[in-house]
Amino acid sequence: MAEIDVVLRNVDKTYPGGVRAVIDFNAEIERGEFVAMLGPSGCGKTTTLRMIGGLEEVTSGSIEIQGEDVTDLPPSQRDTAMMFQSFALFPHRNVLQNVEFSLKMQGIEPDKRSREAWQMIEMVGLSDFAMRRPADLSGGQQQRVALARALISNPTLLLLDEPLGALDYSLRQTMMIELKRIQRDLEMTFIMVTHSQAEAMAMADKVIVMSDSLVQQIGTSREIAESPRTRFVADFIGTNNLFDGVIKSRSGSIVFVESGEKLYYVRKPDYIADVAVGQEVTFSVRADLMHTGENGDMANSIEGAYVNTEYLGTLETDVFEIAPQHYVKVEQHRKLSDSIRNYGDRETISWGAEAGILLDVVTANR
Ligand SMILES: Nc1ncnc2c1ncn2[C@@H]1O[C@H](COP(=O)(O)OP(=O)(O)OP(=O)(O)O)[C@@H](O)[C@H]1O
Ligand SMILES: [Mg+2]
Repeated sequence: MAEIDVVLRNVDKTYPGGVRAVIDFNAEIERGEFVAMLGPSGCGKTTTLRMIGGLEEVTSGSIEIQGEDVTDLPPSQRDTAMMFQSFALFPHRNVLQNVEFSLKMQGIEPDKRSREAWQMIEMVGLSDFAMRRPADLSGGQQQRVALARALISNPTLLLLDEPLGALDYSLRQTMMIELKRIQRDLEMTFIMVTHSQAEAMAMADKVIVMSDSLVQQIGTSREIAESPRTRFVADFIGTNNLFDGVIKSRSGSIVFVESGEKLYYVRKPDYIADVAVGQEVTFSVRADLMHTGENGDMANSIEGAYVNTEYLGTLETDVFEIAPQHYVKVEQHRKLSDSIRNYGDRETISWGAEAGILLDVVTANR
């Protein structure tokens, strides 16, 4: 069993004035894991990160780091370091001086601290820039200085708030790989906040998806992409088709859901405890598990009118309207033999019995 580094138990945060920023946050983070907290603006990501670092008090609940309850400890006693989005470097100090600053504050003697600072500067690939001041560096280089400065105190846990947010697209691609490499080399635990699905999915071992102050799902990138747990996740990540309906009957882990005039086979995952006949539910089908054309092997099918095609690389996503304003997306590799569709053409869309997955509901019921 991997060692658990950080535990959040029933963590709640209500700001003075009454904003409930975080509700009943529960998570376990393993030693050496790269965790991404992913969600839209205002969902409570920074607040959670600041509570882990001790910069913000929890309203209730507890936080453990390496087996110790740190809920009431100040930041200086938590063995964490934080890298903020606006990485305030000292403008009149050079790179080396910026990086060794915290060691200087700890009273470490000059030789030792400059040796350690040089090591960090090499690690982030800035050896040729050590004597420059921040203003004479590019955005990505400044970001690396901020990273080296956060890493030098050798924290158990590094907290990063939108570390790549200020960078342009191509630099962000490079820094994503760099950040992951550094984290692996140092075997450190990283918790990174981001609102970018691409960043979270590319770098993290574990993704915590948040919305509306609530944890929506925790899992690997793959688990989240393959089996979105809630409506929010299904909407936010990947391309998923949602259907609202009513449960008609069930048989083991398959339920039959009536939606529109039709009955569908839908998989009920184990984490949904029980469902009752007559209950209103939503299920999700990944666009890449849907097929066009008559297909006798598939348990589910519906007819739709062709609307348009979205192209992305070799994949194409065909959009069909199956009921007024209800669009379904089908993602397939384009075959040369495929006929060209015209707007309004009728087409059968089908998918397997296990492709549809019942969605869970998370609520602030505490
Ligand atoms: N000091 C504060 N006092 C009162 N409310 C706050 C404070 N800080 C944040 N909030 C509110 O708490 C909620 C969560 O804020 P938080 O900064 O954690 O969001 P976030 O997910 O990091 O968003 P973003 O992606 O925009 O940075 C928001 O509604 C925000 O307005
Ligand atoms: Mg934030």
